[in-house]
Amino acid sequence: MGAPIALVTGGSRGIGRAICHALAQQGWHVVALARDRDALAATAQSIARAGGRCDIRLCDARDRASIERCVAEALQAHGRLDLLVNNAGGGSSARPLAADALPDGEWVDTLDLNLTGAYRFCRAVIPAMKAARSGAIVNVSSVAAHVASNLSGVAYTAAKTGMVGLSRHLAKELGPYGIRVNTVAPGIIASERVAAKYETFSEAERAGMLSRIPLGRIGRVEEVASVVAFLASAGASYIHGALIDINGGLFMD
Ligand SMILES: NC(=O)c1ccc[n+]([C@@H]2O[C@H](COP(=O)([O-])OP(=O)(O)OC[C@H]3O[C@@H](n4cnc5c(N)ncnc54)[C@H](OP(=O)(O)O)[C@@H]3O)[C@@H](O)[C@H]2O)c1
Repeated sequence: MGAPIALVTGGSRGIGRAICHALAQQGWHVVALARDRDALAATAQSIARAGGRCDIRLCDARDRASIERCVAEALQAHGRLDLLVNNAGGGSSARPLAADALPDGEWVDTLDLNLTGAYRFCRAVIPAMKAARSGAIVNVSSVAAHVASNLSGVAYTAAKTGMVGLSRHLAKELGPYGIRVNTVAPGIIASERVAAKYETFSEAERAGMLSRIPLGRIGRVEEVASVVAFLASAGASYIHGALIDINGGLFMD
């Protein structure tokens, strides 16, 4: 039997790239998906240099046809799909708009990327996992599912909270087929995108943010990736329907 196959959305940078690395290190054959071909190729090259296996596929997580095509191609290429990590997502890069100022389009785009896309990926992989009577799905939500996020705004908060409901429902429905579904909720993690945003905050704002994190620092992408890799592993074979917080204690407030 060949290596198990992991589909990782948003594998071109940030947390997603770190997840690809962590999984490849554990022996998964990773299929990394995103829109930026060069960045995806960089993920695959660094994994290959480290002795791992990684294919790449261009995919737009806002586009149903693109999602279905990518999943079908991965299945055809490998004959199996053992893990889906729904990581593609993020809030807007600007400071969040007030709820009463948000244009319809931004609401729809944010929900499309962070919630509908994740659902469509699940829908596309479930038949193969059901047929195999095994598989795992890890959804990347956010601390914004617990507390309103002053980093990303109302649409992101709604989408990431929706992802927790999506996971919970799927866990109930798919458990009997041997398919495990879990969610991680990262706090503030220094991907390039978030680190750049963090830099735009004043010293006082940053101090205020850090004062709410008992560990006193923001997180590293590897600190999310290692948890996702664990949830995907045999060591987590009885973890199902769980929501794991990765936030240095931020959510306790
Ligand atoms: N960093 C944090 O503090 C933090 C905290 C909580 C939750 N999260 C969640 O963790 C995940 C990763 O965050 P990150 O900080 O690593 O973000 P990031 O560095 O901006 O990476 C986002 C990833 O999503 C992909 N992506 C974006 N739009 C896409 C689309 N339409 N189709 C396909 N792929 C798309 C990007 O690839 P392309 O641009 O190449 O398509 C990229 O690989 C997100 O779901 C985010 O909401 C992050």
